[in-house]
Amino acid sequence: MRIDILSLFPKMFDGPFGESIIKRAIDRGLVSILVHNIRDFTHDKHCTVDDAPYGGGSGMILKPEPLFEAVEAIQQSVGHSSGPVVLLTPQGRLLCHDIARELSEQQDLILICGHYEGVDERVREHLVTDEISIGEYVLTGGELAAMVVVDAVVRLLPGVLGSEQATKDDSYANGLLEYPQYTRPQLYRGWEVPATLLSGNHQEIARWRREQSISRTLERRPDLLAKAVLSDETRRILDRMTVGREV
Ligand code: 6GU
Repeated sequence: MRIDILSLFPKMFDGPFGESIIKRAIDRGLVSILVHNIRDFTHDKHCTVDDAPYGGGSGMILKPEPLFEAVEAIQQSVGHSSGPVVLLTPQGRLLCHDIARELSEQQDLILICGHYEGVDERVREHLVTDEISIGEYVLTGGELAAMVVVDAVVRLLPGVLGSEQATKDDSYANGLLEYPQYTRPQLYRGWEVPATLLSGNHQEIARWRREQSISRTLERRPDLLAKAVLSDETRRILDRMTVGREV
């Protein structure tokens, strides 16, 4: 997969992409990530990327020309122009596991980091194919959001994590939150690891984990249960937990 990112602050990406799993994915050639400075696509001596809004008002608006020229140059170097062009903006659709999965199935992806004062509307109408937000709060710019999108997408690419199973067990992938995990020591400051996990009985362990997933989801995110497609077994356990309750 190839991901191109357009930003006014390319150095911001050095940290997150230079460490850990994303770095390893890049080093192993599973993804290439190219960060471009929007200023490199200006032609005036001041490298102007923004201007005052028509009609007045506060803040500056990103000009259309550098963004159009940058995206078109990238599409030309990729050799085609079929991949999504995503604007990161608080007005976009909310990022979720399904969207990350959908983006991870693309061969190439262009991310444009907007700034909260705004982007010329013609960019939205005629350049961008999708708009994504990472949550209901406002950031100073789209950079952190782009990093979140890249992280969520790249970890889903085949070979990036140790096993495919790791992403199948994700919270949100199966509609349930994950069960509690423990490691050594067995007794820490008087707190015991649950006996079932030490029993060696794999069937018992699987059942305990499923019950924990369900009760945790019920407690913390009942909204997930309402929309999840649950197995018969999960449905049965849930019904048992919620007898006499409104869920
Ligand atoms: Cl994508 N951009 C900005 N500026 N703020 C956000 C966001 C994006 N997603 C949530 N808040």
